[in-house]
Amino acid sequence: MMLDAQNTPALPAVTRREAYQPPDWHVPELALDIDLDPAETRVRATLSVIRADAHDRPLRLDGAGQVPLSVTVDGVAINDWRLEGETLVVPLDGSAHTIETEVVIAPERNTQLMGLYASGGLLCTQCEAEGFRRITYFPDRPDVLARYTVRITADKARYPVLLANGDPIASGDLEDGRHWAEWHDPFPKPSYLFALVAGDLAANRASFTTISGREVALAIWVRERDLPKTGHALDALQAAMAWDEAVYGREYDLGMFNIVAVDDFNFGAMENKGLNIFNSRYILADPDTATDQDYDAIAGVVAHEYFHNWSGDRVTCRDWFQLSLKEGFTVYRDQSFSADQGSAAVKRIEDVRVLRAAQFPEDAGPLAHPIRPDSYLEIANFYTATIYNKGAEVIRMMATILGPEAFRAATDLYFDRFDGTAATCDDFVDCMEEAGGVDLTQFRLWYSQAGTPRVVAGLAGQPGGRAMLTLAQHVPATPGQPAKQAMVLPLKLRLFGADTGRPLTDERLVLLDSPTKEIAFDGLAERPVLSINRSFSAPVIVESARAAADLALLSAHDDDPFARYEAMQQLMLDTLVAAVTHGRADHAAAVEAVRHILEDATLEPAFIGEAVLLPSESFIGDQLAVVDPEAIFRARAALRRDLGIALEPLWRAAYADNAAGHYEYTPAAKGCRRLRNVALDYIAAADPQGGAALAFAQFEGTDNMTDRQAALTTLAGGTSDARIAALDIFYNRYSDNALVLDKWFSTQALSTRDDTAQMVEELAHHPDFTLANPNRARALVGAFAVNQRAFHHPSGRGYRFLADQVIALDKLNPQTAARLLPPLGRWRRVDEHRAQSMRAELERIVATPGLSKDVLEQATRSLD
Ligand code: ARG
Ligand code: ZN
Repeated sequence: MMLDAQNTPALPAVTRREAYQPPDWHVPELALDIDLDPAETRVRATLSVIRADAHDRPLRLDGAGQVPLSVTVDGVAINDWRLEGETLVVPLDGSAHTIETEVVIAPERNTQLMGLYASGGLLCTQCEAEGFRRITYFPDRPDVLARYTVRITADKARYPVLLANGDPIASGDLEDGRHWAEWHDPFPKPSYLFALVAGDLAANRASFTTISGREVALAIWVRERDLPKTGHALDALQAAMAWDEAVYGREYDLGMFNIVAVDDFNFGAMENKGLNIFNSRYILADPDTATDQDYDAIAGVVAHEYFHNWSGDRVTCRDWFQLSLKEGFTVYRDQSFSADQGSAAVKRIEDVRVLRAAQFPEDAGPLAHPIRPDSYLEIANFYTATIYNKGAEVIRMMATILGPEAFRAATDLYFDRFDGTAATCDDFVDCMEEAGGVDLTQFRLWYSQAGTPRVVAGLAGQPGGRAMLTLAQHVPATPGQPAKQAMVLPLKLRLFGADTGRPLTDERLVLLDSPTKEIAFDGLAERPVLSINRSFSAPVIVESARAAADLALLSAHDDDPFARYEAMQQLMLDTLVAAVTHGRADHAAAVEAVRHILEDATLEPAFIGEAVLLPSESFIGDQLAVVDPEAIFRARAALRRDLGIALEPLWRAAYADNAAGHYEYTPAAKGCRRLRNVALDYIAAADPQGGAALAFAQFEGTDNMTDRQAALTTLAGGTSDARIAALDIFYNRYSDNALVLDKWFSTQALSTRDDTAQMVEELAHHPDFTLANPNRARALVGAFAVNQRAFHHPSGRGYRFLADQVIALDKLNPQTAARLLPPLGRWRRVDEHRAQSMRAELERIVATPGLSKDVLEQATRSLD
């Protein structure tokens, strides 16, 4: 054996999309023999390898953190292998060989939660994107697809359940208290989809009969005591399986589908073929511990991971620059599924709110990147709202342009043509073009240009029932992309009469594909009011100077529920921006518009609950050239108070009318809880004492977590004595439930109180706080960093706190540390004094010895 002098971590190298080269070697078959033990797991891998074409290059296998104990070629031990950095290089003469390697790894010492690791009493894996190389030597890239056979051996008492991808083929006991199981996955897959789980687990089982009549055994695996909390996830799985058959014609393909919930997980969940592994927060729910939002998220994530079976597993990505190929499409699919399960209008409002809160700021800051990036240091940093959520909007626009039938034909073509292969974003768009009969050449700019396009829309009425609509688009400069081309923006629009509120035109889909466009309207019976980007048909920012009265008219009369919500939001935003800019504002128009919504008996409570909600402090900040967190907080608090006082009887009526006798998880019951809790918060704004008493009574009397957490949030933002009491009761009641304790931390971290920054520093020393669990780290640190006013505390203590936590967490878990960092990169958005403190903290992070490339990449890009 030759150990290279270079066997030290290489300097971070940039990976570029343009440098893609197809693999030198194919690996059609892989057999893994894994002898599990938390301290010392032995992994033997047998790879059949085939030279891809006439080249003379050696076989290169990725590894990370281990060394090979032995390497054999065609059954003979060799010693002319070498390590280049962590890559195992094996010289080979022929065109087909069998390679065996053996390594030992220590899952209990794996704090990164990538590869094979221990969580609770379980051993489990996370391989996307590049975790498989931490388990064994392999070409750890998504375009190398192998058929896996996996044999797992483990102590039977400690790990009675042994799971891997595919279907089980054999199992048995050994003398020494150990046992084994063998699994085979007939579908060729990339290494990032490998999974195994071992542990003392119990299953909630069901069966699903596919459209062609095959029986699939379903199981959700959890700790025995959590079994009662798995019903909702299991229902969602069955609904998702039926939906994918009905809407996309996609049938499940194995005899078994397993889901395992684990407590320590870097992300939401993972679509490993036949064996999805989930963060337990996206599986476990009962009314006492999970909110309506949790229930909805569980259904959405269960569906998302299930849908990946086709959009991700059967058709995977050629390289990681194509990540949005599977993620954007699959988010679009899960959003459509959720829309079909409840109120489509409310779902669209929620999705747009997430896009604006998470993706627009990313697109406007130093970390902006196109949905198909051009380069990265660490791919884990690109699991972003841009790849996922903007990626989903790009798919949605193509679906809008094609229409439902052509879109379905296009997805059929895509699945058909690329089944069993690793594809690119261009392949997907090619299918859209071919089946849709459209030219998407210019549309493809959505894949290469970063930044949120802005559309300026002006509607000028002319004499004689005419009007001229002028549209202009502008895509702002982003890092590395100073000049942009005009994009294709599908804008749904309609005109309404300013006097009657009646529609004056049909809805039209305008494709704005040039810098400017003019559209004339004739025969208008009244002065027209513009309703634009209806249903949020394009992920853009529309600037259209519309008077408060016109926005109020749309909020009362628009027939598109999203546009109606949007008009309310715009009216409130205009009011709040005026207040921040001038120190005060007239609240009358906003108050009257909210009154009208509350009095409209035709509206669903769920919709009202959304429409009367104030824009968040961050979203108000996004409208301003320089964010003044204190002024924004004051302006928002003042409008909240005035809305509370002016409409107090209506809030009290909404509170009373939407009470439920007992808990039910139905769209209607959810809507009532939503509106009732929004009303509670306005009552507390109008009457802090009485509101706190009402909140405390709800907190104590309710039978569900939605109402309890909402009451706690209202109390946690106030100054009443009930606040401390409620926090204590909540803590004591749920001290053995990690997911609910996360809520206890995040509710305090999101509080609007003056002392939140200090409280959060103290909570970081609470015995229940730990950075080792990603959910807990995000619940406190992640939540605090998006609490605009608390994070931007004038002392700079918020920045210091975040930097301290990122530095500490980086030593354990670089991926999760790097994901907490982006709020520090928003320094261009605040005053120079704050900006200097933020940059100083970023520089302190960059100067930390031994920094991971995850955090290094995010921090250095954030300083640019
Ligand atoms: N593919 C997973 C999902 O979208 C996310 C996995 C991300 N994990 C990671 N380590 N980058 O459902
Ligand atoms: Zn996904």
